[in-house]
Amino acid sequence: MVVVGYGTVGRMHVVQHTLNGVKVLGVVEPHTALHADIAADGLVLLPGIEAARRVNPDLWDVCVPTSGHIDVIDSISFVDPCARILVEKPVCHPEDAERLAAVLVRHQGKIVVNENYASSTITSCLRDMIEELQVTPTRLIVDMSKQRQPDVLQGRFIDTVLHATGYEGPHLVTVAEDLLGEDANWSVLGAWIRDHAGFAPGDLRGTRQGGALIRCVTESGCVLDLHTALDGQLHEPGPSSSPHLCTWHTGPSNRHRIARVDGMRPNGEPVTLVGWYAPLPWAQDNRTRGAVGVFREGVNTPHLQEISDNSLGAHLRRAVSHFTADLPDPYPVDRSLRCLRFLESWLSSALGLVEAS
Ligand SMILES: NC(=O)c1ccc[n+]([C@@H]2O[C@H](COP(=O)([O-])OP(=O)(O)OC[C@H]3O[C@@H](n4cnc5c(N)ncnc54)[C@H](O)[C@@H]3O)[C@@H](O)[C@H]2O)c1
Repeated sequence: MVVVGYGTVGRMHVVQHTLNGVKVLGVVEPHTALHADIAADGLVLLPGIEAARRVNPDLWDVCVPTSGHIDVIDSISFVDPCARILVEKPVCHPEDAERLAAVLVRHQGKIVVNENYASSTITSCLRDMIEELQVTPTRLIVDMSKQRQPDVLQGRFIDTVLHATGYEGPHLVTVAEDLLGEDANWSVLGAWIRDHAGFAPGDLRGTRQGGALIRCVTESGCVLDLHTALDGQLHEPGPSSSPHLCTWHTGPSNRHRIARVDGMRPNGEPVTLVGWYAPLPWAQDNRTRGAVGVFREGVNTPHLQEISDNSLGAHLRRAVSHFTADLPDPYPVDRSLRCLRFLESWLSSALGLVEAS
């Protein structure tokens, strides 16, 4: 395996690949300030894609910023037309989709997208709970919000096409699709996007980058709220009937990754199921623990359970199994592109409802 890009995510991938028993032959990283870290981590620095080809990797792992995905995939395909490529989510920016399609026509190797939420135990556990309790979902909220102001100030996470939804939006759609067992072919009811507070008018780092909500109705009639905020504000604190939920929702942090299903059981009993994806708001130092909870009318103490949720490790393992043992593709390129198209069309059809803060 060769890893391209040794930033936040590239480093996490190297750790997980090593735990998964995949040997990292080297790292391509142009930023010289990171070269000492690469050596300190016992890795070989490779000066570029051509040099990386010469070490003959079985797999390539693309962890550069999304704006660079298409160039890197194109370069890998040029030197190794049968390369097996894992690429971070989203597969590219929406404006690069045509260029990607052209590369895919000639590329002969498999490409998998690292949308690790597709391999989360929290989603599968929530699905099991929906089935066991025979819940018909009437409302679903997926919320991924974190205070990212220091990064935003440095120009990270800015997306001028998908705006505030560019970073977490693909995760939100993936979780909602997997929970409901439907493709995101949903009707948009409305959306709003707000600016990131504290930026001068016209500053791209603030314009429509603060937070966004897209409200859809699914094929089965469930109202779905997809929400993300780069200032850590949750869309809804939790059902008012469950004071515990507010505490567990909010915890001591401003980082939240939550799916909440409100629904009805066959006997008419309303029930709320909540999944907290890793890292838990109350245990931010552990990136492999999540939790699920059942909240029932009249039951003051909800049933909460912490479970292991190393979705990154699991997704990387599934990707490698797809490359090497022909097991199912955990997240095909088409799905990533489709997800981007949904976000784009929902936002453009609803932008009449924009609210700027
Ligand atoms: N799956 C997830 O949950 C998740 C989480 C965060 C980020 N991401 C995705 O991971 C990708 C990387 O994000 P990040 O936060 O690690 O970014 P980052 O900026 O921290 O790191 C990217 C690194 O790539 C290097 N780089 C840039 N161009 C390069 C090139 N042509 N060749 C080699 N290296 C190059 C940069 O110098 C930098 O060190 C993005 O696509 C992002 O959307 C996914």
